[in-house]
Amino acid sequence: MSAIDPKSSEILLLSGTGNRPLAESIARELGGVLCDVTVEPFADGEIFVRINENVRGRDTFIVQPTGPPAENIIELLLLIDAAKRASAARVTAVVPYFGYARQDRKDQPRVAIGAKLMANMITHAGADRLVSVDFHQHQVQAFFDIPVDHLYALPVFVEHYKERDLDPLVVVASDVGAAKMARGYARRLGGEIAMIDKRRPAPNVAEVVNVVGDVQGKNCLIPDDMIDTGGTIAEAVKALKTQGAAKVYVNATHGLLSGSAVSTLAEAPLDEIAVTDTIYLPEQKQWPALRILSVAPLLASAIRNIHDNTSVSILFE
Ligand code: R5P
Repeated sequence: MSAIDPKSSEILLLSGTGNRPLAESIARELGGVLCDVTVEPFADGEIFVRINENVRGRDTFIVQPTGPPAENIIELLLLIDAAKRASAARVTAVVPYFGYARQDRKDQPRVAIGAKLMANMITHAGADRLVSVDFHQHQVQAFFDIPVDHLYALPVFVEHYKERDLDPLVVVASDVGAAKMARGYARRLGGEIAMIDKRRPAPNVAEVVNVVGDVQGKNCLIPDDMIDTGGTIAEAVKALKTQGAAKVYVNATHGLLSGSAVSTLAEAPLDEIAVTDTIYLPEQKQWPALRILSVAPLLASAIRNIHDNTSVSILFE
């Protein structure tokens, strides 16, 4: 990896087509504009990319999520390759949503470990480092042999909730794996902890077995890393309401909102659901109870600090 001298190397921020609105917000936060890039399909759907500005010696940051469609991954790899071949001083993949992270171990015979494959592809394409927000599992960091700055959206959500009167609050973990995250919110916002005992009879099907903890008459906050079909959250909200919960707030860093998630969540008895803009949500995927909070300031600060060789972990404090 080339050493970057901040005095002689300028930031170059470029974006694929995966989440251009977020990339533009990051550029505004940094007080600049996105680099001019051509990303066009050939007639057969193959992707052509070209960086239309000088890259030589620049500290290059490429903003592109790796969630579906699969073209997002190919675009990121092509842009990294283009930047390396154009003699970028350093290339950082800024992946706001790291897709394919759910397959992170061989828990059944003959399955792929998608998260490791993604990490290999990004590294072999030539990325010198990676910045991302809320991996599905924190240990995905270890799949990379390049430095990873793993950011948390928690401070963005905490700021949002501090403006609301949530007392008396119970932070509810949506499953056993979310207990640590729930503790993090309870520590910052005050309140008790409860847990949903969830099982998955089939992939993408969530069933609540039990609510562990007292939520009667309390406001509940369910934090999660992602909402895909909305099944986990809809079932959890219904179970909490059955147990006598007052208001129910939900948040998730990554609002995938696949299939019928919007109608499932719009019909669920929840008071507010907050997601971030790591995944672009067009108007038809928005409804009145949805709040979209931006991680652009967080990512811009991380980019600035990486460029200046100052602490990134300071952003979590
Ligand atoms: C589970 O491990 C995750 O944190 C989410 O709760 C889950 O992926 C959400 O999926 P869905 O919205 O399809 O229930």
